[in-house]
Amino acid sequence: MNNLLMEVENEIAVVTINRPKALNALNTETIVELNECLKDIEARDDIKVVILTGSGQKSFVAGADISEMVHQNPAEGRAFGLKAKEAFGRLENMRQVTIAAVNGFALGGGCEISMSCDFRVASDNAKFAQPETGLGIIPGFGGTQRLPRLVNKGIAKEMIYTCDMISAQRAYEIGLVNHVVSQDELIDFCKKIAAKIIDKGSYAVSIAKQAINMGLDMDLNNGLTLEANLFGLTMSTNDKKEGMTAFLEKRGRTLTDF
Ligand code: CAA
Repeated sequence: MNNLLMEVENEIAVVTINRPKALNALNTETIVELNECLKDIEARDDIKVVILTGSGQKSFVAGADISEMVHQNPAEGRAFGLKAKEAFGRLENMRQVTIAAVNGFALGGGCEISMSCDFRVASDNAKFAQPETGLGIIPGFGGTQRLPRLVNKGIAKEMIYTCDMISAQRAYEIGLVNHVVSQDELIDFCKKIAAKIIDKGSYAVSIAKQAINMGLDMDLNNGLTLEANLFGLTMSTNDKKEGMTAFLEKRGRTLTDF
């Protein structure tokens, strides 16, 4: 991989977007590499949580690569958007939990890729924006769809229409990020959350993720039926047997399903 780094330790993969000269902007090559990297991770049982971050101290991802987009015609722009749709959709729905460790600028495609993760943790120097309308385009990697679903419609519209950059603190206030920590602490903080998640039933966590993601695209009644079905499915697992028996026998438990 030319533009990605990956380290795996204690069932946690830290995937780093590594184009520091362009503040980690996403070109086609990086998006294709990310998609391939996530496919490989999905097939691995030794990775339970993915932490996605950007290289350097300044930028998480400064957006889609403007030097590539400047040459795109409508068909190429659409194809670029669809490549990101595939990779970001994989990130959003993969069985592993994904955490965005936002270590600086998360602009345009950077804000959008962070929103495809299960949740976001920001360093105190992080800045978020959807600057696309200032470039004469619209957000093309999910911003018009995921931002209003994550925050509220009015806040999303204001961000997209004004291109205003918001601080990590403001991102916390609107619910875009779950935590704000110092830059030095960021990855360790995310690893601590990851360790808590890994301690739980990994198969159950991935089924919960599926219930939440699919349910949000349904009306409440169908979502509740989906939940009942998946709840029933989890009754069949070794983890359910072990987790409940251990509770009743007042002993520690070892959950292994994934
Ligand atoms: N694409 C390509 N290159 C980028 C880039 C991007 N999105 N963002 C930064 N860079 C490059 C710069 O061109 C510059 O390269 P050179 O050294 O070769 O000139 C290098 O990264 C450093 O950037 P700056 O000199 O601009 O650094 P700065 O500290 O002065 O400013 C910044 C930092 C505010 C992030 C500024 O770089 C910036 O505004 N970047 C663009 C942000 C943006 O508009 N992102 C949205 C892109 S559109 C999009 O993402 C569409 C979509 O939804 C899919």
